[in-house]
Amino acid sequence: MMENASQPPLIELRGISKYFGPVRALENVNLVVNRRQVVGLVGDNGAGKSTLMKILTGAYQPTFGEILLEGRPVHFASPHESRLAGIEMVYQDLALAGNLSIAANIYLGREPIKRQWGLFRFMDEKRIENGSRELLERLKINIPNVKARVENLSGGQRQSVAIARATAFNAKLVIMDEPTAALAVKEVAKVLETVLNLRAHGVAVILISHRMQDVMSVADRIIVLYEGAKVADLERSKTNLDEIVAYIVGSKGSAAQARAVAEG
Ligand SMILES: Nc1ncnc2c1ncn2[C@@H]1O[C@H](COP(=O)(O)OP(=O)(O)O)[C@@H](O)[C@H]1O
Ligand SMILES: [Mg+2]
Repeated sequence: MMENASQPPLIELRGISKYFGPVRALENVNLVVNRRQVVGLVGDNGAGKSTLMKILTGAYQPTFGEILLEGRPVHFASPHESRLAGIEMVYQDLALAGNLSIAANIYLGREPIKRQWGLFRFMDEKRIENGSRELLERLKINIPNVKARVENLSGGQRQSVAIARATAFNAKLVIMDEPTAALAVKEVAKVLETVLNLRAHGVAVILISHRMQDVMSVADRIIVLYEGAKVADLERSKTNLDEIVAYIVGSKGSAAQARAVAEG
């Protein structure tokens, strides 16, 4: 589908800076995420990737700068608020309840309630199970039994459940912070497939990963942070691994230019 030229981007971060006491974690970062776009966010350890995403989800407040959602300024006081607005984060540690079923995890905190004789309130188990099954099917995630406990799943299956959970309720943007860090190769492929399935369902994704081959294989755009500043924002089709790595290590971009000037 053609994007309406006058339509504002899904997300816009403007002039985001973040200080932790004397530590400058982010410096004047501008970033746009369009609908149905997979954005790879990369950079060395400590470059500011997680901090930027925590600001976007309301886990941290920016020291300076503003966030626009579909063209409107928003203030997320907590991840709960960004979630209500359609922004979901899948954390590295997944934050699933191992002792509960897959279906229960997908609906955790948002269980449909039914009343018996208009009086007693019950969790609607059937709706939870059917809803979970439909959702997994839609995302082409192959998990036969939604009643199975999460603790009995493989790492890749857990990741899939976390993603399904994140997208269950009309997410517009899913943020994944190192989703493949602890996975076996076969499972990584599944997660990347899920990223593409999300995009196919109209959801934008921000993918943070150290695994450059993962980022290069699914991202439409790649953004590089270096010491808290955005140093590159490139279309995947117009860049390559060598160029991205040069930005990540600071041998290309404003940091390298500043060094060259200093050294004459
Ligand atoms: N809660 C915090 N308190 C103090 N410093 C922090 C905090 N969170 C992150 N930082 C600092 O901010 C910088 C960016 O960190 P982070 O966003 O975690 O980087 P990345 O995710 O790219 O590895 C680092 O220097 C880190 O030490
Ligand atoms: Mg991080």
